[in-house]
Amino acid sequence: MTAILEAKGLSASYGTNLVLHDIQIAIHPGEVVGLMGRNGMGKTTLIRSLLGLLPPRSGSVLLDGVDAASLKPFQRARAGIATVPEGRGIFASLSVRENLRFAARPGGAWTEERVLSVFPRLAERILHRGNHLSGGEQQMLAIGRALMTNPRLMILDEATEGLAPLIRDEIWHTIALVRDAGVAILVVDKTVSAVLSLADRVVVLVKGATVYSGAPDGLLRDPATMHRHLGVDG
Ligand SMILES: Nc1ncnc2c1ncn2[C@@H]1O[C@H](COP(=O)(O)OP(=O)(O)O)[C@@H](O)[C@H]1O
Ligand SMILES: [Mg+2]
Repeated sequence: MTAILEAKGLSASYGTNLVLHDIQIAIHPGEVVGLMGRNGMGKTTLIRSLLGLLPPRSGSVLLDGVDAASLKPFQRARAGIATVPEGRGIFASLSVRENLRFAARPGGAWTEERVLSVFPRLAERILHRGNHLSGGEQQMLAIGRALMTNPRLMILDEATEGLAPLIRDEIWHTIALVRDAGVAILVVDKTVSAVLSLADRVVVLVKGATVYSGAPDGLLRDPATMHRHLGVDG
């Protein structure tokens, strides 16, 4: 099966500072891939490269098996790639409803009604402005907005960062619902246990290079890597 999005031998840099080295990652339809690693290891940079926000230094990004070099970020979005960026990026001065409608790309299964049924809290806040929402509600809105585009692939960058445990659980529950609805997911998160239980495959980055790529099970059987590169003991 052709991957929706794939990086092949991808290297990327900021100026002369090479921060991604020969990365191989592919997300196939319906699949959940976890991208892990400590702060500053290149996870967000890899997402930016996949989205077309940062051109490859070498190697390539393929969208549906075709080199995406000529595709602008909005064209990749139109092809069904939705992002929940680090820091959420919702419109602070627009209401919940306006944020959702602004993103809408009709014709798929995800309507405003369906998104609101997944996030009853957003339904309660429908006329509130983005900047009047709690952190958890803002994150739900960012995910809801991504769903409104009826994506084939949703990319989540640190979606549970800074949220209270109960809200985190709610976000993880929603991500599983999105997965169950058949949307492929690339998830970056520091909550190692949650990523490992959700993902079909995981990639661990250290200083922009892959140190593990494979099933979550293989990583669980490797406590040294878990400890050194993910900060997990046990
Ligand atoms: N806009 C930028 N300009 C220059 N260097 C950057 C920029 N963004 C990130 N970096 C550097 O690239 C490396 C990877 O960062 P990043 O991809 O944000 O890591 P992560 O998302 O894994 O925390 C870090 O060394 C970081 O300092
Ligand atoms: Mg990051």
